Amino acid sequence: MLSFGRLLWLFCCLTFILLSQCTYAKDLKNSCNTCKKITDNFSKEFDRTRKQNFGGGNTAWEERALSKYETSEIRLVEILENLCESSSFDCNHMVEEHEDHFETWWFKRQTKHPDLYKWFCIDTIEVCCPKGTFGPDCNACVGGSEKPCHGNGMCDGDGTRGGDGRCSCDHGYKGEFCLDCIDGYFNELRNDTFSLCSECHVSCKTCTGLTNEDCEECKSGWEEDVEGKCLDVNECSKDPSPCKEDEYCLNTDGSFSCEACDKVCSSCTGAGPDQCLSCATGYQDTEGTCTDVNECEQPDLCPEENQECVNNKGSYACICGSGYKEQEGVCVKLPESGAVLSDDSWFSWLMRYLTSGHDQAKLNEKEVKTGTRPEEHDDL
Ligand SMILES: *[C@@H]1O[C@H](CO)[C@@H](O)[C@H](O)[C@H]1NC(C)=O
Ligand SMILES: *[C@@H]1O[C@H](CO)[C@@H](O)[C@H](O)[C@H]1NC(C)=O
Repeated sequence: MLSFGRLLWLFCCLTFILLSQCTYAKDLKNSCNTCKKITDNFSKEFDRTRKQNFGGGNTAWEERALSKYETSEIRLVEILENLCESSSFDCNHMVEEHEDHFETWWFKRQTKHPDLYKWFCIDTIEVCCPKGTFGPDCNACVGGSEKPCHGNGMCDGDGTRGGDGRCSCDHGYKGEFCLDCIDGYFNELRNDTFSLCSECHVSCKTCTGLTNEDCEECKSGWEEDVEGKCLDVNECSKDPSPCKEDEYCLNTDGSFSCEACDKVCSSCTGAGPDQCLSCATGYQDTEGTCTDVNECEQPDLCPEENQECVNNKGSYACICGSGYKEQEGVCVKLPESGAVLSDDSWFSWLMRYLTSGHDQAKLNEKEVKTGTRPEEHDDL
């Protein structure tokens, strides 16, 4: 019987094998990438060294010297030295490991196999595959190596010794072969090897053609009319309205939104103070616009002795009059003493000026007694 320890050991082994397979597959793709960069750089360096050691003259001696250099080991070494950035470990490692192969190609294979990438990366060190193929044996991608994924996606591991050849389809396409269309797209053209998916009309969830007459099913926010077209639902005409009391409804294609009424309205049909259906507390209808009510015109709003009424937008406040100061809920006279008094009255005048017109939000509640109606607490 297997002991727990043995089972654990087996489990760890399996995990390790799976993980290393995983990184191995990724390494295979990376190796091909590195190899491709190396051979690309080889061509660049090959071109760069073409004119080297060439004095510019034309003498027979120079011609001979040049042709000697062209195929020389000196030139090969010069190319190999510049293939990789010094910081790229993978690149340097691959070049060092396969220096013999570069030498073989340079002296013996170059003429017969001019494509270094094919000879080196695909056929010799076998880290890449021809285009449209993948995996250790370079099998054809799904959909064939000519047009992997039928031209509508990417084949996993395409051109490398890694991957599993499966397709990740481009947007609009789905299925193992990338021939089917996702919801919201339809097959404009289709046969066994070719598929073109185009986007449906914005009103369709699924469709068979381009217009809103070709919907199979309408998207939410749209509904079919008697002729079978998908038309926008006007959510705003619904009763009850989908918006809150102090919001108005804005219909859009396939949807709607709720926007806040102007603060002078308690309900409205649109933006701005002239679109109110009813005015907010503290405001009244004046020729179709909601305007502030001056509560202070009513008598005895501020009944405490020596209080003054100050109007503000949508409300009012009771503050102590000039020369008085709030103390425990009543207005008490400030001590009169020369310079101090004039300073102080100037100060209280300034305070009143600020609180009445310019700084209502910051009305100091300790200094003033505010007249509020119960429902106004929400607005403050
Ligand atoms: C190719 O060679 C150049 C120098 O010739 C180098 O700057 C570049 O980084 C190399 N590319 C790679 C992928 O190493
Ligand atoms: C499929 O359709 C494409 C594009 O219309 C065409 O080029 C191809 O020849 C067709 N293939 C077959 C097998 O009918």
